[in-house]
Amino acid sequence: MHILNIIVLFLVYSLTVSGDSLIDKAKRSGLIPIPNSADELLKMIDPDKMLTPERIELGKMLYFDPRLSKSSKISCNWCHNLALGGVDGVSKSIGDHWNGNPNHLNSPTVYNAVFFKRQFWDGRAKSLEEQIKGPLLAPFEMASTEKLLVDRIESIPEYVKLFREAYGDGMKIDLKSIALTISLFERTLITPSRYDKFLHGDENALSEKEKIGLDTFIDKGCVICHNGVALGGDMQPFELRSKYKHRDVGGFHGNGKRLMKVPTLRNITDTAPYFHNGMIWSLRDAVKEMSNVQVAYKVEFTDEKGGRQIKVNIIPINLTDEDVDNIVAFFHSLEGVKPTIEYPQLPKYRD
Ligand code: HEC
Ligand code: HEC
Repeated sequence: MHILNIIVLFLVYSLTVSGDSLIDKAKRSGLIPIPNSADELLKMIDPDKMLTPERIELGKMLYFDPRLSKSSKISCNWCHNLALGGVDGVSKSIGDHWNGNPNHLNSPTVYNAVFFKRQFWDGRAKSLEEQIKGPLLAPFEMASTEKLLVDRIESIPEYVKLFREAYGDGMKIDLKSIALTISLFERTLITPSRYDKFLHGDENALSEKEKIGLDTFIDKGCVICHNGVALGGDMQPFELRSKYKHRDVGGFHGNGKRLMKVPTLRNITDTAPYFHNGMIWSLRDAVKEMSNVQVAYKVEFTDEKGGRQIKVNIIPINLTDEDVDNIVAFFHSLEGVKPTIEYPQLPKYRD
């Protein structure tokens, strides 16, 4: 047998015996599926055991109720439309008095936000509950005050009754309990997809092209930042290689350490326009811009005589047109099944 054939045979053999399937490789790279079992999922989204059907239903009503805004026009759903992938589909979000976000920020999706470690583009909120107080009170979003919110809700007898039924008599209606209730509804906005089926072991859940896309996504180092259940959701540096081409629009450059919230890639095909200022409309262009702007990196710690050394290995991301195609194909497998949400009838003000 020719020596080359032996080498090829050996390679095929060693690949097979190592059993390193794409599923294993994905999991080793930090990609985590939405759990299959209700128990495991609840552990993840409800560690404090706050979810009850009554609270979720009340949270849904508040999510859709525009009377939580000063103008009585703007609900959470106005900017995070659950029929539009949890976003508003415009570059810059628009709120009270048609005011745009002062930093030209784009509305991120609320679907799967329960899996994010940080909320907001600069990561300033650690939980959904903490996050909600932002839009309720921001003058360019819902423009309420705590007093206005409490007065409005208390003048709707059905809401007072529903709060009591959800939490018992001891719960005060205030900014905290309103935010908590909406956040409990948000915990249920989860969208399992074919990608999850694949990671759970169903090899046929992805097409060949999608599998190549996933493999490329891992090999090019996208997983360094887009990982976990949400394929994003934590803080990472941006513009590691070069400047983002629309960086001047809105003047937002991350938090004090210039770190930026990594957006989830779940349902990314639903959530154009892209990037923090919503300046890129095509998903292909967004992927290309990422490969221009970012590099992947690996941090290594070594214990040497002089003490602990940190070494950062930089890995440039160079994508061919075919790589971009395959990654975009893979993104289609992240389109999730949205929960069925019945549009609530909202209770009337007092007669
Ligand atoms: C006027 C549009 C608007 C309204 C109304 C609005 N939001 Fe947002 N939302 C945004 C924008 C813009 C951001 C990003 C702002 C930032 O990072 O500073 C955001 C961020 C978020 C995030 C963080 C997601 C992430 O990836 O970081 C969540 C969750 C969220 N909003 C939920 C809500 C809820 C719940 C309500 C109702 C109480 C609400 N929003 C009302 C525009 C809006
Ligand atoms: C070093 C960290 C890092 C790496 C590596 C990285 N990303 Fe990102 N990605 C980010 C951050 C941070 C943002 C948000 C940038 C912004 O909004 O301005 C982002 C945004 C995106 C967006 C736009 C999402 C949206 O909703 O607006 C896409 C698509 C994306 N990345 C795909 C990729 C792909 C594909 C790769 C690999 C080729 C990759 N990323 C590599 C950190 C990273």
